[in-house]
Parts: sequence; C-alpha cells; structure tokens
Amino acid sequence: MSDEAGPLGRPTTRRSVVAAGAAGLTGLLGACGSGSGGGEGGGEPGERLGSASQVPEGGGTVFGEQGVVVTQPAAGEYRGFSAICPHQGCTVSDVRDGTIDCLCHGSKFAIEDGSVVRGPATEPLPPREIAVSGDTVRLA
Ligand code: FES
Repeated sequence: MSDEAGPLGRPTTRRSVVAAGAAGLTGLLGACGSGSGGGEGGGEPGERLGSASQVPEGGGTVFGEQGVVVTQPAAGEYRGFSAICPHQGCTVSDVRDGTIDCLCHGSKFAIEDGSVVRGPATEPLPPREIAVSGDTVRLA
C-alpha cells in the first residue's frame, strides 16, 4: 500500500465532494430563509400543528418542530405557548401533572397560562395564538 497513489487521486475526489456539500448547504440555507422564520418558536400563521386528539384533556403536547406547546386545561379549551424555555432557550420537552416541563434545568410552567410553577425560569412561556377547527390545530 503506497501513500503516493492515494493522495494523488484524492484531492480531486475530495474537492468535488466538498463542492457538492457546499452547494447542498446553500440549497438548505436558501430553503430555510424563504421558509419558516426560525428564531424563537418558529412556525407561521396557518401552519398545521397536528390534530386536537393529540392534545389530552388536562395535559398538552409539545410540537417541537414548530416550537409550540398546545395544552387543554379543560375540555375543549386549548391554549398555545412558545415551547422555548425563557430560562436558557431549551425546548420544553414534556407536559405532565398539570405542568409544561423543561428538562434542561427543571423549570415547570402551568398548562393554564404558561406561568412559572417552578424555577429557575422567572418568566412565563410566551403565549402563541392557535386555532382549533374540527380536529385540526393550527397556528393562528
Ligand atoms: S432552559 Fe429550561 S430550565 Fe433552563
């Protein structure tokens, strides 16, 4: 096995791979820029989050892709909040026992209004407008 044969052939191959990778990345960035706004709690008005049946009464569901958590504190009463924890920006990961939980540092927020139940977060989860029609939950 000679080291000379490899390096002679590899630069060309490697360069083309890098070029293809860069082109792919540019494509991704372009798609991202023209698509969702990104940043804190993405998602655009009208975007479908899921079905209402995914959101249990007395609980909620985290739609992490859109950065939104939807709760149903009482039957048929749906609330939307940003899923981005105001403490240090983790995405909240769980809804259980009446709270929206961030596992990064243990903050908990009320499913009724997003208020802080347990720190270290000191700010509530910001509300997000949602609309439920039939079994579909959308960003409003
Ligand atoms: S980022 Fe959520 S508790 Fe720290």
